[in-house]
Amino acid sequence: MKVKAKIAVFASGSGSNFEALENACRNGELDAEIVLVMTDKPASFVVERARQTDIRVVALEPKAFPSKHDYEEALLGILREEDVEWIALAGYMRLIGPTLLAAYPSRIVNIHPSLLPSFPGKDAIGQAVAHGVKVTGVTVHLVDEGMDTGPILAQAAVPVVEGDAELTALAIHAVEHVIYKETLQKLITNKAKCVL
Ligand code: GAR
Repeated sequence: MKVKAKIAVFASGSGSNFEALENACRNGELDAEIVLVMTDKPASFVVERARQTDIRVVALEPKAFPSKHDYEEALLGILREEDVEWIALAGYMRLIGPTLLAAYPSRIVNIHPSLLPSFPGKDAIGQAVAHGVKVTGVTVHLVDEGMDTGPILAQAAVPVVEGDAELTALAIHAVEHVIYKETLQKLITNKAKCVL
């Protein structure tokens, strides 16, 4: 039997990307197993989604710890309990600190709803619509210490629905749900274009 890569998904919001990845693991499109869902927002909808599965769900709020280092040390302990090999950020709205980066070098991946380096940070879709760009998109990249920076693994363009962030978001999410599983599959099977 093929050994599956063990992934932890970190999320702060609705969790639609978590759900898409979970479906991809179940139907064999992604040779991986999500062994942990970690959220920094215990009330977020991703918790509801994850509780529909057998996956362990952990909610850890940074404010419960004296420092970011302590927070990430606690996370590391849980990641090690589950033998996590890869971390997929899926709407996790926090910077990853040196503690986690050192423990998972080139093994933390993020998805962002813009063509980076345009529109990093919060509300990337709203930023693109407000800016009046005609095309925005989705980026999957390795995580470094910056905000939505790090080597780009994959991008896809998505047309902006003029003046309409909601419709644009619908189109972006549909693309995210495909590109994230495909990029993770390439990464896990060592076919990513960037040099790791
Ligand atoms: C996604 O659009 C993701 O790209 C974005 O948060 C959303 C989460 O949606 N991430 C960022 O903006 C990271 N800077 P989801 O909770 O439905 O998966």
